[in-house]
Amino acid sequence: MTQPILVVGGTGRTGRHVVWKLLERGYGVRVLTRDTQQARRLFHSEIEYVQGNVGAPETLVDAVRGARTIITAAYGGNRERPEIVDYQGTRNLLELAKAEGVHPFIFTSTIYVTRPDHYLNADGQILTWKGRAEALIRASGIPYTVFYLDATPSSTTSQ
Ligand SMILES: NC(=O)c1ccc[n+]([C@@H]2O[C@H](COP(=O)([O-])OP(=O)(O)OC[C@H]3O[C@@H](n4cnc5c(N)ncnc54)[C@H](OP(=O)(O)O)[C@@H]3O)[C@@H](O)[C@H]2O)c1
Repeated sequence: MTQPILVVGGTGRTGRHVVWKLLERGYGVRVLTRDTQQARRLFHSEIEYVQGNVGAPETLVDAVRGARTIITAAYGGNRERPEIVDYQGTRNLLELAKAEGVHPFIFTSTIYVTRPDHYLNADGQILTWKGRAEALIRASGIPYTVFYLDATPSSTTSQ
């Protein structure tokens, strides 16, 4: 059986496009989500679901183990969660990826990440935490890609 690509945040506005594209191209897909029941309603194809929370490393082992690559588009939103999801969550995934030999580590970042004075950073310091997560990835020593989107994908676009 081919190794699946792990998509963290695969149920989100960005992540679901990643999942659709991977399926379109014939890859096996594993989605990490906090709510597998809800995630199953999003996709009609053969997908492996693993319940987990990026803030709780012990819930990530089954998702990372045996994966071919990790793509993460997880997003904590504003206020206190960027530190937990976007930073600590990335660190937890990265550590497991290293331990399990899974790479490249593909990370969805945010435009203006180099501009902490930008208004997007005012509520929750999302840019600051994303930037710190990027720094961890760049220093990790494992092959990685950090990418940025031109625009927020529509949540209503279907496969
Ligand atoms: N132009 C830009 O720079 C741009 C534009 C758009 C998006 N983005 C970036 O793309 C990323 C995704 O954004 P989005 O709008 O697609 O996000 P979103 O729709 O809010 O989706 C968030 C995703 O994160 C997952 N998630 C949240 N907390 C989690 C946790 N504790 N553990 C595991 N998964 C968790 C959710 O999964 P479950 O609820 O299923 O657990 C969901 O799939 C963000 O980093 C955002 O900054 C950048």
